[in-house]
Order: sequence, then structure tokens, then C-alpha cells
Amino acid sequence: MISLTVNGQKKQVDVGAETPLLWVLRDNLGITSVKYACGIAECGVCTVLIDGEAVRACTISVEEVQQSDITTVEGLPADHPVKVAWIEKQVPQCGYCQPGIMLQTVDFLSRQPNPSEDQINDALDDVICRCGTHPRIKQAIQMAAEIAPK
Ligand code: FES
Ligand code: FES
Repeated sequence: MISLTVNGQKKQVDVGAETPLLWVLRDNLGITSVKYACGIAECGVCTVLIDGEAVRACTISVEEVQQSDITTVEGLPADHPVKVAWIEKQVPQCGYCQPGIMLQTVDFLSRQPNPSEDQINDALDDVICRCGTHPRIKQAIQMAAEIAPK
């Protein structure tokens, strides 16, 4: 048995230690906001927070995160600045990539609370949205930075 803490709740799953976290979140715990795309840590779609740091769940094993706090987009409160900004700016199109990009944004803003446009562009360099919502993502990141309590 593997023990995990997901969105503040203790979970036990009967899987092999090497199983990627993404599979366990989706197939064992039913958290389908975490999406599969490239499977090789290239696109960012499967991003979750591990102890507050953005990590690609497709390539990290459950064994590696047993002692950590795992957060998916469901674990962010409704009034989290990133959620508020995403809704205000109506960012998603199909929505597939959005939970991962939102969580990457949470990590980014924790390190860069007042980012420049160039820093935002750099942060978006390694996340893929096939619908091309990057202009609205940038607006939402700027808004989230502005409304976040400092
Ligand atoms: S599915 Fe994990 S980074 Fe693309
Ligand atoms: S909103 Fe469709 S992939 Fe990003």
C-alpha cells in the first residue's frame, strides 16, 4: 500500500511503487482534472503541486511523493487569486490544459509575486495549450498577481 496526502486528505492506494502519480490520481482516486497528454514531462498538462512546487505528474512515481502534500486544482480555494482571475478573464477554451497551467501559475507567482511581461512569457514557454489561449492566460496571470494579498 502507498499512502498519499491529496488536497489535505490521506489516501491509501494499492499500486506499485513505480506507478506514475498521474495514473494514481486519475485511475485510483478519480481526480480527472489532472490530464494526460505527452506523458514525457514536455507539455505541462499534468502539472500538480508537490509541497507547493509545480511538478509533472506523468513522470514522477507515487513512491517519490509519499511524504509530500499533493495539490490538484480542486485543492485551491474558490477565492484563490488564480481561480478568480481565470474566471474573470474567461481563459479556457476546451479546458484540457487549464488545471495544469493554473497550478504552474500558482508556483510561478509564489516565486515572482510581481512578474514582468517577459517573466510571464518565459513562464509560459514550456506549457502547451493547443487552443491558443496564451493571450488570456497572460492577462489572468497579471490579474492574479495584482489581486493576490501581499
Ligand atoms: S502529460 Fe505530463 S508533461 Fe505532458
Ligand atoms: S484550452 Fe484547450 S488545450 Fe488549452
